[in-house]
Amino acid sequence: MLDVRDLRVAFETRGRTVPALHGVSFALRPGTVAGLVGESGCGKTLTALAIMRLLPATAGIQAGDVHLNGRSLLDLPEREMARVRGAGIAMIFQQPRASLNPVFPVAAQLTHVLRLHRGLARRAALAEAEALLARVGLPGPTRILRAYPHELSGGMCQRVMIALALACRPRVLVADEPTTALDVTVQLQIVELLRALQQELGLTVLLITHDLGLVAEICDDVHVMYAGRIVESASVEALFRRAAHPYTRGLMTARVRAGGRALPTGIPGRVPPLGQTPPGCPFHPRCHLAGPECAAAEPPPEVVADGHIVRCHRWRAGVA
Ligand SMILES: Nc1ncnc2c1ncn2[C@@H]1O[C@H](COP(=O)(O)OP(=O)(O)OP(=O)(O)O)[C@@H](O)[C@H]1O
Ligand SMILES: [Mg+2]
Repeated sequence: MLDVRDLRVAFETRGRTVPALHGVSFALRPGTVAGLVGESGCGKTLTALAIMRLLPATAGIQAGDVHLNGRSLLDLPEREMARVRGAGIAMIFQQPRASLNPVFPVAAQLTHVLRLHRGLARRAALAEAEALLARVGLPGPTRILRAYPHELSGGMCQRVMIALALACRPRVLVADEPTTALDVTVQLQIVELLRALQQELGLTVLLITHDLGLVAEICDDVHVMYAGRIVESASVEALFRRAAHPYTRGLMTARVRAGGRALPTGIPGRVPPLGQTPPGCPFHPRCHLAGPECAAAEPPPEVVADGHIVRCHRWRAGVA
């Protein structure tokens, strides 16, 4: 469905090229939910923006490819890519309120998309906008249509964002931390909504999150990111039964220690800033299993089991 192959992204700053994504590869199976997880700064949002071709002007795609249903997105003319962004892949951004236009009421933002992308006439677009708001569980859609973003709560903004994302009937939905900006009870409601919509519409979802509890709850597959690389990919069952990468296991114990609450991680140290990734395995300075080979060379992908891939020289020592 969506196939990301060896994606390399770099920032150009003051004449210097600083790599940020070092060959990210993963594939989404149709009708499933895949989680993209990792600590803050490991490259999750950049991956999503590169897929959508919405990278900031200072960043560029150096190599790799993104295929949607067998078609390369990176070669498409911008006009066609704009169409893909609605009806092919839609994205929900990390900050729902900041992603809505503050100067237009909800109705204008929704009907704009519906008229532009689905060619609906004014009245039909308004009716469809109301139906979409009802579908995402907003009470009193007529009132919401007239509201400006600042008049809505964070949870309501997120529901409007989801309605906007669904307006073009996308096949793939990229949701970047759709719940982190919300309080806990609202988080649960948004997760339930996303799950219901995914099943009802047969959507393929890439869910970006640092919350492994959320991953366990709604994902089929997981891709763990560290320092701009995918370091482990597996089905949710396989990952929770037997995570192979010490980084993944670190993320899991962090969660247990925190009693499910949002302690970032139990792993010592922090994600290296861009341009300061150590040689060899980027995780080795923080890894309790690290040996001399880990500082010497970046580990190649190894197959742990069918559909379970890890990039670690010492994973066998860890799972034994
Ligand atoms: N516009 C930018 N200019 C320079 N560096 C950037 C820019 N955007 C992101 N970066 C850097 O790229 C790296 C990856 O950032 P990214 O936003 O993809 O992380 P993330 O995994 O989404 O983190 P978070 O969980 O905090 O959202 C980080 O080191 C970040 O500082
Ligand atoms: Mg992010």
